[in-house]
Amino acid sequence: MIAVFVFTCMWAFSFVGKGTPFIRTPNKVLPYVDKGLELVDGSIVYDLGSGDGRILFYLKDKHPKVEFVGIEKKMFPFMISVFRNFIRKVGGRGTIKLIKKDFFDYDLSNATHLVMYIYPNDMDDILTKFDKEIKAGVRMVSVSFKFTNKKPKAEIDLERDGKYQNARHLYLYDF
Ligand SMILES: C[S@@+](CC[C@H](N)C(=O)[O-])C[C@H]1O[C@@H](n2cnc3c(N)ncnc32)[C@H](O)[C@@H]1O
Repeated sequence: MIAVFVFTCMWAFSFVGKGTPFIRTPNKVLPYVDKGLELVDGSIVYDLGSGDGRILFYLKDKHPKVEFVGIEKKMFPFMISVFRNFIRKVGGRGTIKLIKKDFFDYDLSNATHLVMYIYPNDMDDILTKFDKEIKAGVRMVSVSFKFTNKKPKAEIDLERDGKYQNARHLYLYDF
């Protein structure tokens, strides 16, 4: 009972503060994220605001020879991702790198691919960092949101069935 209470409080607390809250990409959307990224062996993929790690864990199973890095600033989703990573390690499944940090303060210069599911104002703010830091040719998949002043290479309309209200679109960008 106490554990449920603590878990609920931590979950509720993860919505406090500015910036994008912890909302999970529905599992149904993950194959489309995979397709949009077009990963190859040796790719280095960052999920900026990795939440419970679900996108990267899904991709790790599909692409064992790809390096995955999740950056998450909030303790509750970060701890879930660490726990899931531990369970995978015990079970002999591929693990990912998890960093508890603000992604604005992390060097992304070795990224070949990026995934994000963050609000448009955060996306617009990070564009300056991308322009300074990331390599030419980086592919990015954004769940639900797009940049205000950068045109996507492609938009995937997922025509969700109404069960989930979030993640109806993916936006693909090439830098
Ligand atoms: C909408 S959730 C997406 C979670 C996960 N990527 C997914 O798609 O299931 C956004 C996540 O980004 C995190 N986040 C927002 N701003 C951040 C920042 N500046 N640095 C690191 N994480 C951030 C939030 O805490 C939240 O867990």
